[in-house]
Amino acid sequence: MKKWTVLIVLSTITFFMFLACTNQKTAAPGIAAAKESVGGFENQVKWGESLVKNAGCNDCHTPKKMGPHGPEDDMSLLLSGHPAQMPPPDFDVKEAAKKGLIVTQTFTSWTGPWGTTYAVNLTSDASGIGGWKEEQFLKALHERKWMGLDNTRPLMPPMSMMPAVKMSDDELKAIFAYLKTTAPIKNISPQAVLLPPPASK
Ligand code: HEC
Repeated sequence: MKKWTVLIVLSTITFFMFLACTNQKTAAPGIAAAKESVGGFENQVKWGESLVKNAGCNDCHTPKKMGPHGPEDDMSLLLSGHPAQMPPPDFDVKEAAKKGLIVTQTFTSWTGPWGTTYAVNLTSDASGIGGWKEEQFLKALHERKWMGLDNTRPLMPPMSMMPAVKMSDDELKAIFAYLKTTAPIKNISPQAVLLPPPASK
């Protein structure tokens, strides 16, 4: 009888130890899954959205409308660049460039010693970055090349001065993935009017 009791006790202990082990095994992958994230976000697109908001891409690529604190992002035109239908800035670009910087009320067009540049459409529309390849986007920002293609003009201020040039490939890929999910807005911003660079001494 005693033998049987010992055996039952032993098998019960083994059974509970087995249960504890299997529980641990199932708990471990759960913890790992919760940690899986991209740049600290649940996926690449969410990371890209946060980078766009915090790196200030909207500051110039989203036209502004007046609000209680002055100009604010017009969310119906999110990231769509300088509006094509806006009348051209009403000043002499050459004269203005000598005196300082001029920015339109939309914050999407900038005039300075380089001439006038217009923030472009970054939405997923074909008139934005809809037809762009990821490599093009990386080249545009890292090498400051218009359209991210070889043999194109260099990007000019203020874009050429943006710290985005120092972002990692992964950060730019996340931004690109987010931009591809934005609401498509059709808008072709005007071509830049570039002044010849000052003669070198
Ligand atoms: C201070 C204003 C400003 C900010 C901030 C800014 N941009 Fe720009 N961006 C411009 C202007 C202006 C141009 C056009 C430059 C030119 O014509 O050479 C431009 C051009 C570009 C282009 C090139 C498009 C093409 O057709 O070649 C890309 C891509 C771009 N911006 C992405 C971004 C992203 C992504 C951010 C945020 C990380 C950003 N920009 C922040 C003003 C800005």
